[in-house]
Amino acid sequence: MTHHKDSQLTSPLTSSLTMTQMSNWQSYIEQKVGFVLPTRQEHWLHRAILAVAKNNAMSVDALFAAVQTDEQMWQQVIATVLIPESRFFRHIETLNYISQCADDSMGSCRVWSVGCANGQEIWSLAMVMQADNHRFELWGSDVNKAAIEYATHGRYAIRYLQEIPEQYHHFALKSEQEKSSRYWYMSDRLRDSVQFFQHNIFSEPLPSLPKMNVILCQNVLIYFRQFDQRDILFRLVQQLEVGGYLVLAPGEASFWQHPQMRRIRHSAVNVWQKIDSNNNLF
Ligand SMILES: C[S@@+](CC[C@H](N)C(=O)[O-])C[C@H]1O[C@@H](n2cnc3c(N)ncnc32)[C@H](O)[C@@H]1O
Repeated sequence: MTHHKDSQLTSPLTSSLTMTQMSNWQSYIEQKVGFVLPTRQEHWLHRAILAVAKNNAMSVDALFAAVQTDEQMWQQVIATVLIPESRFFRHIETLNYISQCADDSMGSCRVWSVGCANGQEIWSLAMVMQADNHRFELWGSDVNKAAIEYATHGRYAIRYLQEIPEQYHHFALKSEQEKSSRYWYMSDRLRDSVQFFQHNIFSEPLPSLPKMNVILCQNVLIYFRQFDQRDILFRLVQQLEVGGYLVLAPGEASFWQHPQMRRIRHSAVNVWQKIDSNNNLF
């Protein structure tokens, strides 16, 4: 291996990325997806890069060169670095709040979950909306292609049933051929109203979707710099119907203000409502 002046001697890391390599990877990832790993989690990025390089029998530098042009290789890095961490019914108050908002929607309630990971959040919402007899259309998007495939498949290991309140278990089906399987599938009643697509909220234009009654973006913005959070939120406002709601995870973007949005005081849900249709305020 080449020995760089700034290699392991000065790096807190113990294996084989130099500080220059780490910094190049961090800059590249930030430039592509806006994602900034906190310093205390740098070892995670370090391990992830080494793992992808090893799986492809490549040096770290060869991998760095490859991701610039090879989308499939880039997706491998994304899938390893951006942890699609989620849970079913992660924040039940948010789900119930959205279901109440659906009472006010004319026709079917449209919800977009930005950074939906492996789909647990949107499938949980589908269960609640269906159980509450709402008409709804749900979209989930994520930059991680593998996560979107997982979410679309709608197949989860039995252990995840523990996260789902029993009253919703009838939406989790075992296929006839796989009675003994350790997996269950999302019921067709939900699948008809749920779609997933790959989308990078940091660098791509807004997708061609109808205006939403609710946009959910939970546990995503924490990884972005504050000015990037502002840009993303600004664009999400454009995708909302007037009267629609933007829901973040508790504590997120508490600094944020926008002339078209009013913050709703709620003890458990971090939510803003769009009150103005004028998109030319800036
Ligand atoms: C911690 S998960 C949150 C999942 C879910 N929203 C929840 O709260 O359970 C964050 C997700 O944001 C996604 N993400 C990160 N940067 C993104 C970007 N630029 N565009 C779209 N999704 C992104 C990651 O791939 C990851 O799946």
